[in-house]
Amino acid sequence: MSTIISPSLLSADFLNLGKDVEMVNQSEAEWIHLDIMDGVFVPNISYGLPVVSHIKKAARKALDVHLMIVQPERYIEAFRQAGADMLTVHWEACTHLHRTVQQIKSCGMKAGVALNPHTPVQLLEDIIEDMDVVLLMSVNPGFGGQSFIPRTLEKTRKLREIIDKSNSHALIEIDGGVNFETGRQLIAAGADALVAGSFVFKSENPTDTIRGLKKLQA
Ligand code: DX5
Ligand code: ZN
Repeated sequence: MSTIISPSLLSADFLNLGKDVEMVNQSEAEWIHLDIMDGVFVPNISYGLPVVSHIKKAARKALDVHLMIVQPERYIEAFRQAGADMLTVHWEACTHLHRTVQQIKSCGMKAGVALNPHTPVQLLEDIIEDMDVVLLMSVNPGFGGQSFIPRTLEKTRKLREIIDKSNSHALIEIDGGVNFETGRQLIAAGADALVAGSFVFKSENPTDTIRGLKKLQA
């Protein structure tokens, strides 16, 4: 299976979002990554439900929604209504993660769990068979354009082992500091999907950059 690419609109041109969504539509990317920040779970505020609904009207790729918010269980239904296809909540924000994951799935979305850089992958062992996606943060969440934390490679390898030893079909997605170099290392470590924000949208030709990421091999 070739690597799934999920361009993050956090680095897009917010005055011309429609144009950037159309660029992703016409590219080889499979997903569009939407970062929702509440100013509490992370020290930044991005955009919310009305923006997601508008993106949904223009998008022809699956909406991969990454919630960096406290008590994400309060907004599951609302993000479904807004058009999320995949909903990822943070392990660190969920007291009853198993319940939250079941709620996401019962609303008809794929369920993802994100881990901050300091959170060990072993903590997912007892829920891995319920997961559709595990999102490893390779930067501290909150901002685009940060440098990749190298320890993520070891976490990716460990998570690959945990998934392969189980009956889980979970995909490993990596978010933060992805470029051609880190992307190749991540694929070698067992990643299935790569999020890329600034590397795509700040590049001269975002469509070509997506194609380049898509072609990366271990
Ligand atoms: C950071 C977000 C990322 C961000 C990645 O909190 O979760 O999705 O857009 O940006 P880059 O690819 O620039 O590191
Ligand atoms: Zn993200």
